[in-house]
Amino acid sequence: MKTVIARAPGRVNVIGEHTDYTGGFVFPMAIELGVTAQLSKRTDQIVSMRSKQLPGDFEFNLSELTPGLVTGWAAYVAGAVWAVKQNLEISFGIDISIDADLPLGAGMSSSAAVECSVILALVTLLEKDVPMRELARWAKRAENEFVGVPTGSMDQVASLMSKADHLMLFDTRDDVIDLIPIDLTSADATFVVIDTRSKHELTDGSYAQRRDDCEEAAKILQVKYLRDITDLDNAIDSLISAGANNRIIQRLRHVVTENQRVLQAVAALKASNLQQLGELINQSHASLRDDFEVSCPELNLAVSIAIESGAFGARMMGGGFGGSTITLISNHLVETLKENAVVGFKQAGYLSPKVYLVTASEGAKIVSTHN
Ligand code: GLA
Repeated sequence: MKTVIARAPGRVNVIGEHTDYTGGFVFPMAIELGVTAQLSKRTDQIVSMRSKQLPGDFEFNLSELTPGLVTGWAAYVAGAVWAVKQNLEISFGIDISIDADLPLGAGMSSSAAVECSVILALVTLLEKDVPMRELARWAKRAENEFVGVPTGSMDQVASLMSKADHLMLFDTRDDVIDLIPIDLTSADATFVVIDTRSKHELTDGSYAQRRDDCEEAAKILQVKYLRDITDLDNAIDSLISAGANNRIIQRLRHVVTENQRVLQAVAALKASNLQQLGELINQSHASLRDDFEVSCPELNLAVSIAIESGAFGARMMGGGFGGSTITLISNHLVETLKENAVVGFKQAGYLSPKVYLVTASEGAKIVSTHN
């Protein structure tokens, strides 16, 4: 039976956190680690799913595919099939096998990588040619409507549309993508991800709460997106006069300053000014920690260790409340950083962190197709 294998990468986000659901700017890149989905046609209407890394085999009939049918990792796979089914007719069952070298649940968008690899493989199995930007919308629908997490679109767009040796400046309001070359090799520097292996409770609920706070601020300020706020002081005055509480003011301040930082980071990168890029990354962490309140002790420790190890900058990455940090650091300091992270986490009584060197990699692609 016809088989298609697709691979979608995970992503890191250099700067621009918690801005993608308020029309803001993000600055991610795909990484080498990713997820591979192998899809084979079946003669019946059954979809079977298995993962090489995670336990449990799942099976369902295409006709019973609705949100809530499965949970856990299988929901990302089933959600991807569901999202394709909302747009294209699927007239056959499918055997789906997932294999990943991307660590799952570590804040490098394994969920988006699963969705994107399955969607790309399935559309290819259906012999349809759909633009990547559209596939990213379907993947986001899988996450929002099937899995039920109200994320923005950064992860899916980065996984499907990144280019090797480039960062992606994505303007989520105007839906414009600008791929900006990055050459850290000649600067003898690298991005390092520290997976703190911590995950705090209420992750999803807290993410949704942050979104609600941003929506409340936008409603009071009568703008569609917080991205549309350019005069922060004036907007804060308006929130105060409307009786908004301090939490809403903090959320607004994070989003507005973070959007400014992304644009400054683009300029710093274009000028090959890693010192300044690092400083902006540090400011982003402080804002996420103090104003947006999505950091946690493990993430703060990983950031402090990176700074003490001589990094240009470091910050928590992704939704927060656990997961990973991203650090920009000179190559000759990487070993020191690794050692300090292991020792520092041990002293604090935390699990031993995992450290990954990441480079700007190609977005999702078809690995093979055979009949
Ligand atoms: C998660 C979401 C993204 C984005 C980040 C925070 O990774 O999937 O859409 O909102 O959190 O920047």
